[in-house]
Amino acid sequence: MQRRSWAEPFKIKVVEHLRMTTRAERERAIAGAGYNTFLLPSRDVYIDLLTDSGTSAMSDRQWAGMMMGDEAYAGSENFYHLESAVREFYGYRHLIPTHQGRGAEHILSKCCIKPGDSVPGNMYFTTTRAHQELAGGQFVDVIIDEAHDPASLHPFKGDVDLGKLSALIGRVGPARIPYLALHATVNMAGGQPISMANAREVSALCRRHGIRIFMDATRAVENCWFIREREPGYADRPLADILRELCSYTDGCTMSGKKDCLVNIGGFLAVNDDALAEQARNLVVLFEGLHTYGGLAGRDMEAMAIGIAESVSYDHMHARIGQVQYLAGLLEREGVPMVRPVGGHGVFLDARAFLPQLPREQFPAQALAAALYVDSGVRAMERGAVSAGRDPQTGENRYPRLELVRLTIPRRVYTQAHMDVTAESVAGLYQQRGRIVGLRFTYEPESLRFFQARFAPVEGDAVLRR
Ligand code: F0G
Repeated sequence: MQRRSWAEPFKIKVVEHLRMTTRAERERAIAGAGYNTFLLPSRDVYIDLLTDSGTSAMSDRQWAGMMMGDEAYAGSENFYHLESAVREFYGYRHLIPTHQGRGAEHILSKCCIKPGDSVPGNMYFTTTRAHQELAGGQFVDVIIDEAHDPASLHPFKGDVDLGKLSALIGRVGPARIPYLALHATVNMAGGQPISMANAREVSALCRRHGIRIFMDATRAVENCWFIREREPGYADRPLADILRELCSYTDGCTMSGKKDCLVNIGGFLAVNDDALAEQARNLVVLFEGLHTYGGLAGRDMEAMAIGIAESVSYDHMHARIGQVQYLAGLLEREGVPMVRPVGGHGVFLDARAFLPQLPREQFPAQALAAALYVDSGVRAMERGAVSAGRDPQTGENRYPRLELVRLTIPRRVYTQAHMDVTAESVAGLYQQRGRIVGLRFTYEPESLRFFQARFAPVEGDAVLRR
């Protein structure tokens, strides 16, 4: 068969120069950053795969939209554009803009959660769970077991386990469950999608018990691409239709616009319920800004409205996830252990299999991310025990089964050659994995510790021995 490559449905108009560094410079930089890639100045980074959040390249149309910013304090024209984009593509009635996703999570948690409530979700996300706990709730994981197994090839590893959800409802009663947080796709599981069939069943179960569902729609369009690829009956449907159907099984969403919506800043809460919308508008003015801007400039809302329409293009999403799969394919050929099947927004290396010699207490994923930076200037992110933090009740470290390093691909930013360089560095490290040294905390912040924690190698003064 003749080979047909995928390619991006855009060409490059502006370039941003990158600084190349030497290994000695990177060794100094990572030590200065306490072996935490979050603390590296970006000027010292060559290929930045820390996150896909706020790192997308905007289109010329979005930049043109920025010039159309209506910076009125109240009732900005751009708010109405964003409101109609959210209504058209996500289908929710009320839009409350926020400065980013966690602003929406904060407001939703404060509106709905009472102390002692249980909040089920298909795996935790760091900021989402932190706001649930801050409001007095307890997060309960109801994702299927396959999600915790990096080797399971289940096509929808993000699915909710209906048995686990029913058991929770039986144990605490529906009155103590303010809502189910449904993540599409599931970031901490490796960008794994939920199936439409599962969303439908979960919705029926929750409606029977009067429990609301709020979707974390941060990467829901990416989820819809997987539904189109993998779920019978969706192969010919436009992504926009699939998205509307997915949202129809839920009562609203929180959104970090910094991912799917292709903007550098922004987010929103969207809900159908009038009373909840009223309550949320009352809180947004306290924490974010007036309910028609929520901490955003008018131009930011305009860029997000345009980005939403661009995000549901099949060609865009095909190239976006195609690039992630291209990188995964290169690593797979070298036998590098990673979460499979590959998810939507990045390649998640399985640090426990990569570095079996390091005990969990030496944070193998944190060490691998630091070593990767030293080797090539590629910046990745730990998603394992450091991110999971401590149990608020016992104060013990939480050790999730997944101990991962995330190579997150910004949208429309890097080229295939950047992916080649990344794969060569990871594969090279895998061959010399015995040289990677474990880490211990030298400073541990109280909340969301992964952002600002500092470490030192458990022995010697290098995370990657020469
Ligand atoms: N929900 C999910 C699934 C996310 O991935 C994020 C952010 C948020 C909510 C919070 O949104 O950052 O706009 O406040 N994820 C980023 C990441 C930080 O790197 O995965 P935010």
